[in-house]
Amino acid sequence: MKLSLETRSPADARGDVLVVGRHGDPARPGPELAALDKKLGGLLSAVLKTERFEGKAGQMSHFHSEGRIAAGRVLVIGLGPRKAGDAEAVRRGAAAAMRRARDLGAASAAVFMTGDGLTPPRRAQAIVEGAILGTYRFDRYLKEKSEKVIQSVAVVEPERRNHAAAREGLRLGEIWAGATCLARDLVNEPANVMTPTYLAGRAEEIAKAGGLELKVLERADCAKLAMGAYLGVAQGSQEPPKFIHLIYAPGRRPRRRVAVIGKGITFDSGGLDLKTADGMLRMKDDMAGAATVLGVFQALPRLKLPIEVHGLIAATENMPSGTAQRPGDIVRAMNGLTIEIGNTDAEGRLTLADALAYAAQEAKPEEMIDLATLTGAVVTALGQGISGLLASHDRLAAQLLADAEAAGERMWRLPLFEEYKEGLKSDVADLTNVSSQRGAGAIVGALFMRDFTAGIPWAHLDIAGTAFTERDHPLGPKGATGVGVRTVLNHLAALAGRA
Ligand code: BES
Ligand code: MN
Ligand code: ZN
Repeated sequence: MKLSLETRSPADARGDVLVVGRHGDPARPGPELAALDKKLGGLLSAVLKTERFEGKAGQMSHFHSEGRIAAGRVLVIGLGPRKAGDAEAVRRGAAAAMRRARDLGAASAAVFMTGDGLTPPRRAQAIVEGAILGTYRFDRYLKEKSEKVIQSVAVVEPERRNHAAAREGLRLGEIWAGATCLARDLVNEPANVMTPTYLAGRAEEIAKAGGLELKVLERADCAKLAMGAYLGVAQGSQEPPKFIHLIYAPGRRPRRRVAVIGKGITFDSGGLDLKTADGMLRMKDDMAGAATVLGVFQALPRLKLPIEVHGLIAATENMPSGTAQRPGDIVRAMNGLTIEIGNTDAEGRLTLADALAYAAQEAKPEEMIDLATLTGAVVTALGQGISGLLASHDRLAAQLLADAEAAGERMWRLPLFEEYKEGLKSDVADLTNVSSQRGAGAIVGALFMRDFTAGIPWAHLDIAGTAFTERDHPLGPKGATGVGVRTVLNHLAALAGRA
């Protein structure tokens, strides 16, 4: 999608469609819309009146401009009640409008939104994010691809003094949405393609393109580092494990050092504790955390933030076989703790145990954030629309909640309730990987992982419900969502003082 800034007035903006955002208070059309309506000979107000257009979120109306303005058609999109600084309303509005414009056969669109209380760069960024995310498709395996594609989008910003800032917003929107689409692509890729080796190859592409440092540790390297928990999961698969370590280092002395860790199970069959057919069906998405990390690292070189960021992925399959790990096995993680395998399907926390211990020891970050499709329990608790947040550090948790809010991603904090650690006690090892007590699975999973964070401020995002949806949603079609990419980018930008 080609993006540009349209510096002419909405009436002079060129394109197959002019998209106009309209809040739910028609009494106050604003001067720009009044001017547009005048150019249209009152067509805009007449159409909205006959259709009783109320500006409800998602409500749409379109008509031909009959040559009265530069664009061929006008598409009005309702943005809901006016709430100052509501970037998500603009994102969703742009997404819905772009999808409709595409259905209507438009190849180019100009988008004009006002009265949202957003600064020009934030507005431009939200429009671009909405347009790119909203029209995302995963069609590489389809013989018949849709011919309807939006090829170019122009953000209308007639005020000269806002042009430079809006251009920067446009640039950020393209980077952030592009990173999210990369994460979606990686998750949507089936597990016969998306192996640990393939994932490492994609990490290498991203590192090359961005001038990033990359280490890929092979099985033997991980054995030398004593990553027994990770390698225990990997031993059942024919696919060799790949431990991926990406480093973004700024040109100047970094202000902060952060590690972002993603669960990278390219397929989770459950192992010998085999999942049911239904339970296994979408387990190609068990590397969504890893995909988020790669999305973030695609964006980082272009953002030039003055912080050092380490990206870590302990990639492997979780498969049943003659070499697979057995229930009752005892493994030793990199930090020396021994773990009794209570259930081979609780594999994510085993791989993350070593990834967290490695991050703490090798990267020595000031804070660590992991993203993982860790538990079915978080889906029960929060559903497909809300990620679980568990954190050992209140300030980090509060920051991430705010970062998610700004990205329009929903997240809810769950407590690391100390008494539930009791259930992770083993008679024969330091820990077991599943609780002997019932319930609170998302909390228990996080409590397990906390033992590998070496006391470094840490936050865990359980994205088992949000990484993949069965239904179309406001910012994209069903399938992978790319959840977490924009929240983490917000967080890193805020740490760098760019919020
Ligand atoms: N990858 C799954 C979690 C999951 C479940 C992700 C549903 C997306 C949708 C994870 O490895 C897993 O199997 N967790 C088990 C843990 C249990 C054995 C303690 C679970 O949640 O059932
Ligand atoms: Mn599992
Ligand atoms: Zn899993």
